[in-house]
Amino acid sequence: MSRSFNFCAGPAALPTSVLERASAEMLDFKGSGMSIMEVTHRGELFGEVLQSSKARLKALMNIPDTHDVFFMQGGATAQFSLIPSHFLRSKAAYITTGQWSQKAIQTARAFGVAEEVYSSADSSFCHAPEAADIGSLDSFDYLHYTPNETIGGVRFPYVPEVNAPLVADFSSSILSETIDVSKFDFIYAGAQKNIGPAGIVVVIARRSFIDNALPQQTAVFEYSSVRDADSMLNTPPTYSIYLANLVFEWLLDQGGVEAIQRQNVRKAELLYNAIDESGFYSNPVQLKNRSLMNVPFVLRDSSLDSKFLEEAERARLCNLAGHRSVGGMRASIYNAMPEEGVLALIDFMHEFAKKHG
Ligand SMILES: Cc1ncc(COP(=O)(O)O)c(C=O)c1O
Repeated sequence: MSRSFNFCAGPAALPTSVLERASAEMLDFKGSGMSIMEVTHRGELFGEVLQSSKARLKALMNIPDTHDVFFMQGGATAQFSLIPSHFLRSKAAYITTGQWSQKAIQTARAFGVAEEVYSSADSSFCHAPEAADIGSLDSFDYLHYTPNETIGGVRFPYVPEVNAPLVADFSSSILSETIDVSKFDFIYAGAQKNIGPAGIVVVIARRSFIDNALPQQTAVFEYSSVRDADSMLNTPPTYSIYLANLVFEWLLDQGGVEAIQRQNVRKAELLYNAIDESGFYSNPVQLKNRSLMNVPFVLRDSSLDSKFLEEAERARLCNLAGHRSVGGMRASIYNAMPEEGVLALIDFMHEFAKKHG
């Protein structure tokens, strides 16, 4: 059995050792004679998995006692609606640095006033604002931003300092670098990149922020109800939570977020250097805003795109096509992508450029 290097933006590669462990435990989880998928979510077996996954995430991210962790469904996309539905009273501020933050503001506008306080559309979403470009935003219900734009590969190298509650879509960068959770009032992240399989969204929220939210009509989508029911207001996606728990354990074994961040910085540097030095590939994002997780690039001659993708697939370097809306290439190099995979991609790119340049 040999595994491909999978550069998919999400669902994304999972650590091989996690998949092996899940496979070994599949038919008989902890002597139960059943898989974890087949047991009641209200029982001890799953209860331990749920508590362990929350405890590990808290340890990994150093989550303070002021914040709660819970799991929801509906993907990060559902959060685009749920956030304004809970917190938008008079007006909310949004920063737009790419397609996901654009979707977030467009969705919020169905709920009230969502003001775009900064947009990088004028650079085709190739940069993020400077810290000084963001005002204090005193009169806003919250500021929403996307620390890492998955499609354009644009990253904020800092956390905005504002006087409004801070809400962030960490779907494609959670657990990839250390953050000070106490600066945020609401963090959400779809699981299918750095956490596990699709099916859950991790929410990390300041307790008082949620306690003061607007009342909702649907308990299963109400933050305080889901939190108070310990993520089990109804049947949760048990297998997704089980796998997330294993990924968290794997990450702790790697030395935690600080250690993986060092690897991520190194992997990204290797790849960006290879692109910049090639004269054949290019990445349009401003240097200081380049993503550590998603590296989009184009070939000098786009008529070679399909050949590049075909040959890459043959070399078991998979899912390198850019997002369908932008084309080109994108290598997503999340936590689970080993440096070996990045080096294999760089070798391949080098050979391809030599042959076709
Ligand atoms: C930054 C970001 N936000 C939101 C989403 C949407 O996530 P989902 O498909 O889980 O709704 C994605 C998906 O890739 C994303 O990368």
